[in-house]
Amino acid sequence: MIRGLRHITPYVPGSQPADKEIIKLNTNENAYAPSPEVADALEAFDSHCLRRYSSLDQDVLRQALAEHLAVAADQIVIGNGSDDVLSMAFLAFFNDSRPILFPDLTYGFYKVWADLYHITYREIPLAADFSLLEEDYMTANGGIVIANPNAPTGLCKSLKEIEAIVKANQDVVVIIDEAYVNFGGETALPLLDKYDNIFIVRTFSKDAALAGLRVGYGVGSPKLIAVIKAVKNALNPYNVDSIAENLAAAAVKSWDYYEQTCQKIIATRERFAEGLEALGFRVLASQTNFVLAEPPRVSAEALFTYLQSQKIFVRYFPNAERLRNYLRISIGTPAEMEKVIQAIQEFL
Ligand SMILES: Cc1ncc(COP(=O)(O)O)c(C=O)c1O
Repeated sequence: MIRGLRHITPYVPGSQPADKEIIKLNTNENAYAPSPEVADALEAFDSHCLRRYSSLDQDVLRQALAEHLAVAADQIVIGNGSDDVLSMAFLAFFNDSRPILFPDLTYGFYKVWADLYHITYREIPLAADFSLLEEDYMTANGGIVIANPNAPTGLCKSLKEIEAIVKANQDVVVIIDEAYVNFGGETALPLLDKYDNIFIVRTFSKDAALAGLRVGYGVGSPKLIAVIKAVKNALNPYNVDSIAENLAAAAVKSWDYYEQTCQKIIATRERFAEGLEALGFRVLASQTNFVLAEPPRVSAEALFTYLQSQKIFVRYFPNAERLRNYLRISIGTPAEMEKVIQAIQEFL
């Protein structure tokens, strides 16, 4: 027997099947290709640069983001996907004996990091309609994590509601995970001028169609950035590779393209939700690139299995009691979503 081995319950990501014929709507990836400027940057990348380690502070990308978001570059930290940024933020900001708070239905990784880093936490149940109630977060705590818009519900809180939570908790860090914000959410960036306890996390995986590149970032007060940078340098100082930094900067500089693709995805989402509702589904009002929907007459599990047999992959959460009747379906191209509606129609 080997002593000292750690037993953890890992996060279970959506599967990544190799079959290109699959309509893959299970991990909220973008329906469209990255911008042409990103493709150009990839082609122009000089492989000789890979001889060197990547940059320590991702100056090029932070400068591009600072201009794009109208914040200072020293308010930004870059990570290997927003999972990396969130993981570092948990380590950096949650070191109190009081439990951190997050909703019972949210990004499943929050619980995994809390367990991994021995951070005590309390899951606050969302209301029966899956909405988040600000007053639930006005209690003693060691920190707060809120995905806004939330996943997998797709629901969004207003800036005013988020501000109420940040304002009432100025003695701890409030992390706002804005992975899906550019699909109709309201950003908390304006709060950075008023509060030094807010840390906003963003990703290039969803709106910028770069999930495979693995780049995310956090924006906060210089005080918070200094703390998380120390954690970054304690774990993996070269956490962002040179190609990733270069291509992500090209994405920021071609944001007009992404504004168009986000609008296309929003339009497809609205049409798809209407199609599902016409078939009798209950569909939550999403501000993301996915919808959470409850099928009529058949179980979510049966529909999930049928869709899989038709090479349509969506997300089903068998282990979450409150989500057992729901499927989370990412928004693909209009043609893909038309096929999904047809397949569902055939099954019902
Ligand atoms: C709410 C939320 N936050 C963070 C992430 C992580 O994204 P990434 O690590 O690709 O940046 C995801 C991915 O699905 C997500 O849904």
